[in-house]
Amino acid sequence: MYILAIESSCDDTSAAVLRDGVLLSNVTANQKVHEEYGGVVPELASRAHQQNIVPVVDAAIKRAGITKEELNAVAFTRGPGLMGSLLVGVSFAKGFARSLGIPMIDVNHLQGHVLAHFIKESEDDNDQPTFPFLCLLVSGGNSQIVKVNSYKDMEILGQTIDDAAGEAIDKCSKVMNLGYPGGPIIDKLARQGNPDAYEFAKPDIAGYDYSFSGLKTSFLYHLRDWIKDDPDFIEHNKEDLAASLEKTIVDILMKKLRKAVKDTGIKQVAVAGGVSANTGLRNAFRDHAKRYGWKIFIPKFSFTTDNAAMIGITGYFKYQDKDFATIDLPAYARVTV
Ligand code: KG4
Repeated sequence: MYILAIESSCDDTSAAVLRDGVLLSNVTANQKVHEEYGGVVPELASRAHQQNIVPVVDAAIKRAGITKEELNAVAFTRGPGLMGSLLVGVSFAKGFARSLGIPMIDVNHLQGHVLAHFIKESEDDNDQPTFPFLCLLVSGGNSQIVKVNSYKDMEILGQTIDDAAGEAIDKCSKVMNLGYPGGPIIDKLARQGNPDAYEFAKPDIAGYDYSFSGLKTSFLYHLRDWIKDDPDFIEHNKEDLAASLEKTIVDILMKKLRKAVKDTGIKQVAVAGGVSANTGLRNAFRDHAKRYGWKIFIPKFSFTTDNAAMIGITGYFKYQDKDFATIDLPAYARVTV
């Protein structure tokens, strides 16, 4: 059973092919066009998707070693994401499935990130979580603790009430003029810095919810004061600044996650989303596994940021339940379903 999966929710055009839930190909075209603007420009993103979608799908099918006629279903990201970007993938997927006379499967992008842990790269790849497990979903748009009861039953225990973790990192990086996206740059600098050099505000929010806007403001205000005394402060201290910022964010994320593990008694803990590529966060997961006996699941780097493989595995689960989409199903920018 072959599934073609398409992801186009933000600035990556990605297509993947799976055979019986095993990944055969995963091709992604990144968009460099946004770098000079310090953030994703929605109109440019949808135009780039238009250019990329046909060659990316073509490459994914070829790399899988099949022809399009052998496909049994087309899965696609329906939302949440940038509307213009989503429309390219959604329209393409619908037209492609219709022309082949095969079912289409709509996938929630966030559900895809969580289920990325079930992507198999070979038949004997069996290192997957069992239900229920907890998942820290951290990306440029989301920071959530999710209790995953089954592939389709996910309970959000807590989430950010303002900025996402990745957004906070990207904004602080922008303030330091380091470039976009900030996550990988901060990660690299942080490896050479002292994480205890500076202290920034940590939020005091009840329950499992997160807040990162206070940290961002605290970072900005501290920086302004320090630059008054030394105009080259950032250049002289960027490694320590990055390391201290990363530590603060990782501490905030892990504190709530520890609470969720303690309260639910669930010790299988996964991390997903773009920020799960972060070295400090990965190390904190490994440290918690040793210290508290957690069984942890950390995705391969290629499955942390947006990719079609995770849409494909979610589509595979839905295919088994014959949970198909109809042609009139619209894309959605925000979570409404
Ligand atoms: O899941 P994702 O690819 O997409 C969206 O949320 O749209 O996440 C992107 C986020 C960005 O904020 C980026 O800076 C962050 O993930 N990111 C990282 C790292 N790599 C990507 N943050 C920290 N450390 C990294 N190594």
